[in-house]
Amino acid sequence: MASIVGGLAVSHIPAIGGAIAKGLQADPYWAPFFDGFPPVHRWLAQATPDIAVVFYNDHGLNFFLDKMPTFAVGAAAHYANADEGWGIPTLPPVDGNQDLSWHLIEHLVAAEFDIVTCQEMLVDHALTLPLKLFWPDQEVAPVQVVPICINTVQFPLPTTHRTYRLGEAVGQAIRSWDSDKRVVVMGTGGLSHQLEGERAGHINKKFDQECLASIVSDPQWLTQFSDRELVSLAGTQGVEVLNWLAMRAALGAADGPIREVHRNYHIPISNTATGLLVLEPAA
Ligand code: DHB
Ligand code: FE
Repeated sequence: MASIVGGLAVSHIPAIGGAIAKGLQADPYWAPFFDGFPPVHRWLAQATPDIAVVFYNDHGLNFFLDKMPTFAVGAAAHYANADEGWGIPTLPPVDGNQDLSWHLIEHLVAAEFDIVTCQEMLVDHALTLPLKLFWPDQEVAPVQVVPICINTVQFPLPTTHRTYRLGEAVGQAIRSWDSDKRVVVMGTGGLSHQLEGERAGHINKKFDQECLASIVSDPQWLTQFSDRELVSLAGTQGVEVLNWLAMRAALGAADGPIREVHRNYHIPISNTATGLLVLEPAA
């Protein structure tokens, strides 16, 4: 059966793509963020995943406010990156793994998740920048991907509890896949940020720290909050932490306790408090 080798979570911010393109990684503004990554690169070099299942949110590229699926699963052979107007360089397409996509879709529908299946799917900074951060020296990340899009944009959002259950079901599906592939699960976005309105610039360090700690050792902690409570704590875009929650639930209790390999936290990049977390099943 396929194995889950670990979980990665990281913020996704278009300005990061600009900094990479301009080679600003060592710039004093950017260094506290980019300096968090060498331990992740070392971990990936020994974890050698074949496939990344990525919980992320689309920012208007595939789904806009007129049609907004709560959960959507990619089943494409390739995922092209499209420019959303942030002025960041477009990255080369990444390959999908359609066998795993369809296995996940079968499993999720059988588990009564009414997902949208996407045989064509564009991907934005929420998928491409984490791959670039994790494999900076590769033209294309050396993994196939299965994107799982969670609505963090249009209310009502999926509940924290439902998001946790989705992650659990994805984890079970991966572990039941008849394959020798090594899978890493990822969650992108967050941590606290709000890009618009009277509270634009809102950051909540205390809540972010609680999120990081709970994702490691008390993953159901976030399920106490409603979507409105999450907005009030983390900001309108800080609700992207739902992607982290699904990632953590996919790692699951079935594999036993989780070991924290690495974390980083830095305020602010653009308008956002950035977080980075590497988890692996404890031996
Ligand atoms: C920013 C953060 C995001 O998560 C995003 O999707 C777009 C922009 C920002 O901080 O600028
Ligand atoms: Fe975002």
